[in-house]
This record gives sequence, structure tokens and C-alpha cells, in this order.
Amino acid sequence: MSAHQMLKVFVTRRIPQEGMKILQKASMCDLSLWDSDEPVPRAELLKGVAGAHGLICLLSDKIDTEVLDAAGPNLKVISTLSVGFDHLAIDEIKKRGIRVGYTPDVLTDATAELTVALLLATARRLPEGVEEVKNGGWSTWKPLWLCGYGLSGSTVGVIGLGRIGLAIARRLKPFGVKKLLYTGRKPKPEAQEVDGEYVPLDTLVRESDFVVVSCALTPDTQGLCDKTFFGKMKKTSVFINTSRGAVVNQDDLFEALSSGQIAAAGLDVTTPEPLPTNHPLLTLKNCVVLPHIGSATYSTRGVMSELTANNLLAGLTGSEMPSELKM
Ligand code: NDP
Ligand code: DGY
Repeated sequence: MSAHQMLKVFVTRRIPQEGMKILQKASMCDLSLWDSDEPVPRAELLKGVAGAHGLICLLSDKIDTEVLDAAGPNLKVISTLSVGFDHLAIDEIKKRGIRVGYTPDVLTDATAELTVALLLATARRLPEGVEEVKNGGWSTWKPLWLCGYGLSGSTVGVIGLGRIGLAIARRLKPFGVKKLLYTGRKPKPEAQEVDGEYVPLDTLVRESDFVVVSCALTPDTQGLCDKTFFGKMKKTSVFINTSRGAVVNQDDLFEALSSGQIAAAGLDVTTPEPLPTNHPLLTLKNCVVLPHIGSATYSTRGVMSELTANNLLAGLTGSEMPSELKM
């Protein structure tokens, strides 16, 4: 293929080598890469995407009208290294006939596993315990010191029983969970596998000992977990969010945690990301914050990268994508 027939592809970040190798082997691609582990500055994104036929982006790149305009009419495909697609202006992308590839399924196990780890770490106060060992706070074995909450006999409520929500439920059930509630837009037949009971959000929030958020961020779920929501939770309940930070009103969460309205919270996702180190949530012992590492296993990130590259190539050649977002 001669240089002028080559299809221009802009990649907004270094991605794991599994995907890079596929892209480099594809003779049709004139690749340009923001060669850094840090996000591409907006001006460089707008410059880099100009005239591109394909774009590989990350969840931290906001792909809006401005970016689409900067890309121009060549743009055929956007392939994101994520299952979440709230960073993409879907209506505008659809209007322009651009196809979107994403990475469902391949990160479900890793994210569910991390959610369970975060839930246990939060409920059983592991970060506090580790800190006490290091700072000399561990004086002796004390009957009520560092007590938390256990899963055995509990009610767990999952908000959004999708791929990841179901995988979380599957992993939690063997801990002796007594009741598994879930809510969403409609009941799910696959919930039977975990004896899941479809209930209104209000019931789930009032009855659950553990509230786990694993829904997509949409206009309906934005700010869903607010003052009213936390006000309905039990004082002994634990809140976990591994979906997107914007599902939670963080000021309301801070208030709920610091006033004892709820027992504890574990967050893998925040607004903004990174969360400023002086953020009030980070002053609380009953709030465990992780830096968005749900899918962060070497193998998962490798497979995500591979899938992202293959989605892009299929989009460029007009063939069937391994994982195309149905818009
Ligand atoms: P799915 O699309 O399979 O699941 C999303 C679920 O959200 C669906 O069950 C959907 O219900 C539900 N949902 C949509 N709207 C609402 C609503 N108003 N109220 C309650 N539930 C709702 O996606 P995945 O499970 O694969 O991923 C879910 C999300 O997890 C991603 O969008 C992403 O934001 C986040 N994620 C975070 C990671 C991390 O590192 N922390 C890693 C991977 C994903 P319905 O089927 O009825 O539409
Ligand atoms: C996603 O894929 O949406 C996660 O947030 C990162 O893996």
C-alpha cells in the first residue's frame, strides 16, 4: 500500500505491547502515538486526531464534538481501551456514522475480583489495621478494636446486575450471603443463578448491608447516590463503588461517612481522577479509595489492548469487529 493510501491512526497513549504489536504489523496503518504514560494534552489530542481514519483512546480522553470536528470526515472508527464509554459523545458519533469498539467481557473477572477485594478491605478495615501495625497503635488484642462487618448472613444489594455486577454477585454468594438484591432497568433472567431478587432501588438501599454499585454512568445514574440515597442506608451498611465516580455525589458521601449515617465506603472510582490528595474523603478512616484499578491485572490489560487494536483494524477495513458497541 503506498503512503497516500495508508490509513491514519492516532493512539492517545502508550498501550500494552500486545495491542501495539498488532497495530505495527498492520501494513495499512500510518500510526502516530502520544508516546507517554500520561494523558495527551487537549491541544495535542486535537492536533493528533486531525485527518485520522482511526482513533484509539482511553477512558480519560473526552471524545466530544470538538475532537470529532478536529478529526474531520475521514474518521471511521473509535476504539476505546475500556468497557465504559461515558467519555464518548455517543449521539454525535452515531450521527456521523463512526463505529465504536470497546472491551466488554475480557475485564469482567478482574473487575469483579477487585470489587470483592475492596469490599472486604473496607468492611474489615484492612487499611486501618495495616496502618496501626506500622504506627505502633497495636497495643494488644482487644475485643472491640478494629471490628467491622462480615458477609456471612448479610444482604447484598447490587445496583446494575450487568456483566460485572453478576460476576461480583457470583463471587460474593459463597461467603454466606443470605439475600442478594439487585436493581436496574429491568429484571434479568441470569439473576436466577445467584438467587437474585429484583427490587426497587429504594428497597435495595434500605435493606442491604452492602450496597455495591456496578452500573454504567448514564444521565439516569449520574449523581444517583446522593444525600437521600445515603439517608436511607442503614448506619451499619457499607457502600462500594467500582463503576464511575460521577454516580456518587461525593459531598453527600462525605457527610454520610463523617456523621455516621453509613458505616464505611470503598471507592475505586472518583470525581475527579486522580482525587486531589487534600480531598476531604481522604481524611476519613472509614473511606477506602483506590486509583481506578478494577481491571488492572497484567493479563487483562494485555487482552484489552489486543481487543482494542483488533476492533480498530476491523473498523478501518469495514469488517465485523470483535466487540462493537451497539449504539
Ligand atoms: P454492562 O453494560 O454489562 O452493565 C451495566 C449495567 O448497568 C447493566 O446491567 C444496566 O442495566 C445497568 N444500568 C443501566 N442504567 C441503570 C440504572 N438507571 N440503574 C441501575 N442500573 C442501570 O457493563 P459492565 O458490567 O461490563 O460494566 C459496568 C460499568 O463498570 C462500566 O460501564 C464501567 O463504567 C465500569 N467499569 C469500571 C472498572 C473499574 O476499573 N473500576 C472496570 C470495568 C468497568 P440494563 O442491562 O438494564 O441496561
Ligand atoms: C473500563 O474499562 O471502563 C474501566 O473503567 C477500566 O478498565
